[in-house]
Amino acid sequence: MNHKYDTVRPVNWHDNQLHLLDQRKLPHEQVTIILEQVSDVTQAIKDMVVRGAPAIGITAAYGVVLAAKNAYAKSPTDWQTLITNDIQKLSQARPTAINLVWALKRMQSKFATNNADPIATLLQEAKQIHQEDIDANYKMGELGTELLPNNCRVLTHCNAGALATGGYGTALGVIRSGYAAGKITEIYADETRPWLQGSRLTAWELLQNKIPVTLLVEGAAASLMRNKMVDWIIVGSDRITANGDVANKIGTYALAVLARQHGVKFMVVAPTSTVDMNLTDGSQVEIEARATEEVLTIDGKNIAAIGAKAWNPSFDITPAEFIDFIVTEKGVVEPRSSGMDIIDNAV
Ligand code: MRU
Repeated sequence: MNHKYDTVRPVNWHDNQLHLLDQRKLPHEQVTIILEQVSDVTQAIKDMVVRGAPAIGITAAYGVVLAAKNAYAKSPTDWQTLITNDIQKLSQARPTAINLVWALKRMQSKFATNNADPIATLLQEAKQIHQEDIDANYKMGELGTELLPNNCRVLTHCNAGALATGGYGTALGVIRSGYAAGKITEIYADETRPWLQGSRLTAWELLQNKIPVTLLVEGAAASLMRNKMVDWIIVGSDRITANGDVANKIGTYALAVLARQHGVKFMVVAPTSTVDMNLTDGSQVEIEARATEEVLTIDGKNIAAIGAKAWNPSFDITPAEFIDFIVTEKGVVEPRSSGMDIIDNAV
């Protein structure tokens, strides 16, 4: 385990409260918000106080604990019915990442009526979901690093790091492990318009660990590849369908097509909690449409011509044919030949 590069935790449970590092404020301020009500947890996921597929799943799991605790205090016999609506709302906070629904199903599987202390059982399950995610990231870090050649230069997109997970990160976990192993010599990160996950979050967490990073605007990625400055693209995912199609931050698809054109390898890193075997292909994934203000303004200030409209899909689908490897904690898949068949993630 590589603790030197594992220092950031976006979600923490302390004294029966949920602590979230407010990612809207990074990198300039490190503010933690403390939540005790499930409705506030749902709002925090919607507002992207916490974001990234595994991190919102973990947050939702702790949200169920808060909901159950409050409902149990009101009615030890009827608490499950009382929180049905809360769970429904949590599940709809953001539509694309399947980890959210996956974590809620795991929590619901612990709702047995004969449970002597349901709150303790639920908290244990939420903590377990959290720890399993960190463990999966370490495993994927090892598996992904094995695929990389020496002296490798990588580009990542969005933030698939500690901030997007329980800790350590998926794509950034591989980048951390590959850098620690001396295989990665250069790390590029797309700034990731419009929310700037790359320049605000990925750069921040790498620099927390004193890992050098070079930012570029997404539009520069083609030139980076054409100028032979990068060997591998490594990204995370919000949902992977049974055929190996990958939903991830808007702009990922463009990178994958460019990578194929320029002979750059393309790796997706995601735990099996991101795999949705119920969907046959990416056309069935709901793509979140976010507010047009994210495109038209920065910090509340207009940056576009007044009257211009905006289109702001938050994710896109990269077809399996453009992906060389999907790294999960259960093994590496080459989706072009096998889809996601080796994966068993039934809850
Ligand atoms: O809108 P976001 O910031 O939640 O989008 C996050 C991503 O697209 C990440 O790449 C994905 O969730 C994988 S995180 C390990």
